[in-house]
Amino acid sequence: MSTKKKKSDATDALARELRAETEWLAAAIDVRFRRHFRPDEARRDEELPSPPELSAGSAYARVLDQVEAGRDERLLLALALAPHLAPAILDVFFIKHEKIERGFTEFGGAKGVFHAGFLPTGETALFLLAGDNLAARFRATRLLDATHPLFLRGPLRLGPPAVDEPAWSGVLGFSPLFLQRLLAGAELKAEPEGAFPARPIVTALEWSDLVLAPTALDGLDEIHAWATHQRMLLEDWQLNRRLRRGYRALFHGPSGTGKTLAATLLGKRLARDVQRIDLSQVVSKFIGETEKNLALVFAEAERRDWILFFDEADALFGKRTATATAHDRYANQEVAFLLQRVEDHPGIVILATNLKSNLDEAFARRFQIAIHFAPPTAEQRARLWRDTFGRHVPLDADVDLPRTAEAYELTGGQILNVVRHAAIVAAQHGTAVQQTEIDEGCRRELRSVGRTV
Ligand SMILES: Nc1ncnc2c1ncn2[C@@H]1O[C@H](COP(=O)(O)OP(=O)(O)OP(=O)(O)O)[C@@H](O)[C@H]1O
Ligand SMILES: [Mg+2]
Repeated sequence: MSTKKKKSDATDALARELRAETEWLAAAIDVRFRRHFRPDEARRDEELPSPPELSAGSAYARVLDQVEAGRDERLLLALALAPHLAPAILDVFFIKHEKIERGFTEFGGAKGVFHAGFLPTGETALFLLAGDNLAARFRATRLLDATHPLFLRGPLRLGPPAVDEPAWSGVLGFSPLFLQRLLAGAELKAEPEGAFPARPIVTALEWSDLVLAPTALDGLDEIHAWATHQRMLLEDWQLNRRLRRGYRALFHGPSGTGKTLAATLLGKRLARDVQRIDLSQVVSKFIGETEKNLALVFAEAERRDWILFFDEADALFGKRTATATAHDRYANQEVAFLLQRVEDHPGIVILATNLKSNLDEAFARRFQIAIHFAPPTAEQRARLWRDTFGRHVPLDADVDLPRTAEAYELTGGQILNVVRHAAIVAAQHGTAVQQTEIDEGCRRELRSVGRTV
């Protein structure tokens, strides 16, 4: 058989399967409607119909495997696919309430920009799966979590709700890219493990452990105050007519000066998760997936009040150069997309960079606050030495921390490295920490950044 023929057969098979899938969806909607509108009839307990059989190894069966889909997951996929494949199936959701002459709130749904049909939302999905059964609804929300395989490895996405609107009122979409690949018979690559490009960061330290210049501490306090009083400022004081809900902070300064620590502590103080975005995963080995991954992170951040921390942001926010290769052009698109997302995000976003001058100027202006993390002064270093050794590390009598602080211009991160080194050596030898080891460690730190003493 020619490859052309093979391909066209595969397309026919996929079309048949997807047709059956949308018909099943229509039947399920039918049952849900009967249960919802005629609850006293015997049909009250009518089960949603079982899904159609798929031929083993078919393209769609592979999608279902990939996202570990049971019946409910499969129904959500069909619901999200319907606007692409058979939009008229969803027209039943447009029926009007006779008495009040408007649609039924419980169906959810949104209007498209160009699309004239019904766009399902998270609410539509919950209605379909759970009707008005609240416990069933709670169970079904599990499937709408951005970390569910449907979203993480699969084609679904859920738009964020508008400000203060119910959590599930965003559109339930089916990634057009994924659909395109499915239709093209292309490999449906599962995203690599851990593709969710954000990780929570935590610390055992406390706010009082932070050793920074007063101006930097003031800046951090301001972010804290914004987060604490945002609602009052925007709503009671009605600044929402002029101010956006989002707050973007730039942390700039050399390595090891406490940028990551400050962001982490800010979250701890606000009792909010801080999620560090791994830019290496975001810029883009997976062309086209980046957008989806990031959209997920932003949607989750909004839903859960996360603080987003973009580390080494200069990698992405550097000056956009005139570019030659397709990959560069693509990277530029990614940057533009990311900038827009950061701009639009209604929560707190912190970007950290070692080099302020590297930042695109137009971009730098968009920050509500820029905090400089300067290398610590001798006095600050003395405190860092004391705090880092703490009260339990045995120090030899000739250890002189104030002199050490004076003698070596190190950052907090470097001091931590030296403390680690000196403590390990002391433990090895069964002695107290020696000044000679501290000096050796300090020189090593300075050498590693190309400085000598
Ligand atoms: N200002 C500081 N106050 C207290 N501890 C600090 C300070 N700066 C650094 N440290 C110590 O050094 C560690 C490393 O600092 P951190 O990772 O926050 O630096 P950074 O500015 O994010 O560096 P990089 O630019 O390399 O990411 C911290 O976890 C903390 O133990
Ligand atoms: Mg850092």
